[in-house]
Amino acid sequence: MHTNTNLNTNTGTGTGTGTGMDTGSDTGSDTAVDPATAPGYVHGYSRHEARRLGDQADTLAALLHTGTAYPAGSRVLEMGCGVGAQTVHLLASSPGAHIVAADISADSLDRARARVTAQAPGARVEWRRADVFDLPFAEGSFDHVFVCFLLEHLGDPGLALAGLRRVLRPGGTITVIEGDHGSAFFHPASAYADAAIAGQVRLQSAAGGNALIGRQLQPLLAGAGYGDIVVGPRTVYADRTRPALVEGFTRDTFIAMIESVRADALAAGPVTPADWDRGMADLRRTAEDGGTFHYTFFKAVAVKG
Ligand SMILES: C[S@@+](CC[C@H](N)C(=O)[O-])C[C@H]1O[C@@H](n2cnc3c(N)ncnc32)[C@H](O)[C@@H]1O
Repeated sequence: MHTNTNLNTNTGTGTGTGTGMDTGSDTGSDTAVDPATAPGYVHGYSRHEARRLGDQADTLAALLHTGTAYPAGSRVLEMGCGVGAQTVHLLASSPGAHIVAADISADSLDRARARVTAQAPGARVEWRRADVFDLPFAEGSFDHVFVCFLLEHLGDPGLALAGLRRVLRPGGTITVIEGDHGSAFFHPASAYADAAIAGQVRLQSAAGGNALIGRQLQPLLAGAGYGDIVVGPRTVYADRTRPALVEGFTRDTFIAMIESVRADALAAGPVTPADWDRGMADLRRTAEDGGTFHYTFFKAVAVKG
């Protein structure tokens, strides 16, 4: 199963003019804005989710972007750019690259353009509305492809990787970053917290995605025809001696993500509201004094031979 909405829209090139950070204001509705674009997309397109993606990217920038820098003048496709949370870090590491940032959601692209304008003044990005299953780019038209937290939401990630391989030039690279919720363990341990996380994994699976995809990157890339595949774990470990990670990752990224699916998780069952709330309380406990939290992302780099 995959989405294919036959999009082919160039939304222009943005030139940043402002300064400062904008991870979404609290004014306005927190409901989904652009629901028709990626049916089943488990996190939705709310203002709250936009802020969570920003917190996640900023907190993990050093961990996830280290080793990724593209030469000046190279053409880079960032597929599934969302609200631009990773785009600003790509721009910081590769200021001379020509970045084409694409997503299926027009609303997310608008937010991405605003974020880049605010955080990367003067940066030039070409914004494209596109479905990864129907890429509006010529064969071999990119030197590099960058994909972060996209495959986990797709029904057929192998097909998506094959399509991205088509638009890469021979010798070009793809970089893929994904999480794996099976890597979440913490202290104090809690069966209720485990059950709440398992509920999110089931929801994502029911929506056609896979929250455990990090461990599959090597076989997925090999199956899509890539060579020279190197996959490495990128681990986040947070305790009170690392307060920025406790706040930015444990609370604002991971716990916020599980919390945001409460209604859907309870509707899907079998967890009861009382057990789910206890699971969330136990998860929050891991971000307090004496608590610890561990999660591993996987970063892969591969080549189109
Ligand atoms: C979890 S967000 C990640 C955004 C960004 N890469 C980041 O790390 O902050 C996943 C993004 O994938 C996009 N998406 C989902 N299905 C897609 C598809 N078929 N084609 C293109 N983008 C898609 C969603 O609209 C969303 O913006």
